[in-house]
Amino acid sequence: MSHQTDPPTSNERVEAQYEEYLMPIWKNLNVPIKRASGCTVEDFEGNEYLDVFSGISVTNAGHNNEAVVDAAKEQLDEFVHGCTYVHPNQPAAELGEKLAEVTPGDLQKTFFCNSGTEAVEGAIKLARKYTGSKEVLALEMSFHGRTLGSLALTGNKSYKSEMAPTINDVSHVAPPYAYRCQMCDGGPCSCACAEDVEHVIDTHTADDLAAVVVEPVMGEGGIIVPPEGWLSRVKEIAHDHGALLIVDEVQAGYGRTGELWASDHFDVVPDIMPQAKGIANGLPLGAFTASAEVADAFEAGDHLSTFGGNPVACAAALATIEELENGIIDNAREQGAWLHEQLAELEREYDVVGDARGLGLMQGIELVDPQETGRMDVAPAPDPKLAKAVGKQLREDGIVIGVGGFHKNVMRFQPPLTISRDQLERAVEALGAAIEAHREDSGA
Ligand SMILES: Cc1ncc(COP(=O)(O)O)c(C=O)c1O
Repeated sequence: MSHQTDPPTSNERVEAQYEEYLMPIWKNLNVPIKRASGCTVEDFEGNEYLDVFSGISVTNAGHNNEAVVDAAKEQLDEFVHGCTYVHPNQPAAELGEKLAEVTPGDLQKTFFCNSGTEAVEGAIKLARKYTGSKEVLALEMSFHGRTLGSLALTGNKSYKSEMAPTINDVSHVAPPYAYRCQMCDGGPCSCACAEDVEHVIDTHTADDLAAVVVEPVMGEGGIIVPPEGWLSRVKEIAHDHGALLIVDEVQAGYGRTGELWASDHFDVVPDIMPQAKGIANGLPLGAFTASAEVADAFEAGDHLSTFGGNPVACAAALATIEELENGIIDNAREQGAWLHEQLAELEREYDVVGDARGLGLMQGIELVDPQETGRMDVAPAPDPKLAKAVGKQLREDGIVIGVGGFHKNVMRFQPPLTISRDQLERAVEALGAAIEAHREDSGA
């Protein structure tokens, strides 16, 4: 069919087509994208934006990273699809071997799927098969996806309304959220939130626990970094109850935090590790990796995916890991440390900046209304209105930043890990100016 009579593509046309032909999705960015390179995305009118959000933490090796694109093109010329359980393909085999090498501890065998949500659900199935138990624990304020299984784990009711019931046998425990901690009586952190896992197992479960699922740094919850010792204590409690620890590295993995895996910061080896997002720098791929002992609980046919392990996506993933290991993660560590300092400076300067936190290039600031006390008086009330205004201002200034968090008041910096100091300086300066401009007209 000829499209010769169609009007030329424009921002307006893409937006109108979305409105008319795609099911409603959250339109929070509003930057139709024509092309992208490095940390820059361009719309159909030639406007360029500095991207400090990476399509939610995906293009870690930079938009259209040449080595990744070349690897995908090379595989496209060979074949596009074979279905990994009909025709084993070499890129999937190589990627499996590579992941055994680069994942923590004894993690060795991987299952490939297409997204983060599938990776999490596959991990739950594997944990159930291995342990012979059914129940799962997840964190309040967590995010693990939106299909019915992963949605059940997601600890945020705003994603669930009117679409329940999800799977049952899921209980939620307190998140490791120091800024609004309600667990340590206002005193120094004693990791009481980790002990909550024990408490919830005792009070809510039927002693049939298959897994405890956590994000090593909570992304959608608002860039929440757990305290020292939390992750290892949670693993210990899970094991004491015969359950596995599933560490969801979908958002925090692939160099985002300045290490290949966020788990590396805490010296914890997950029992099962779901991955996606940054894995293939934008090509759709998900995975979960486990030790041989755990992985071999699956018998052939227990879990399958038609597209999972697609050779083009796997070839892109191999090139992505090589790129990340070749200096990009070092850059994430270095620029992330600098960025954190700048955000901490904003916290000192502005009383509407309640908390600056993060690891590597996964950084956020929580915007608050200093005149209002939040729930339980632990911190000033979140100010989602201010966050929205600041995000909009940055967009007008040509910068795409994330606005999110459980309370929708967190400005999220998750740029391509290739970002330069100059680009970050520009973003931080614009953020400070936007806060200065909008802090008076905000209010939760
Ligand atoms: C930690 C975490 N797990 C799972 C998911 C779901 O991934 P996907 O959107 O690829 O299904 C996300 C998405 O944001 C995530 O942040």
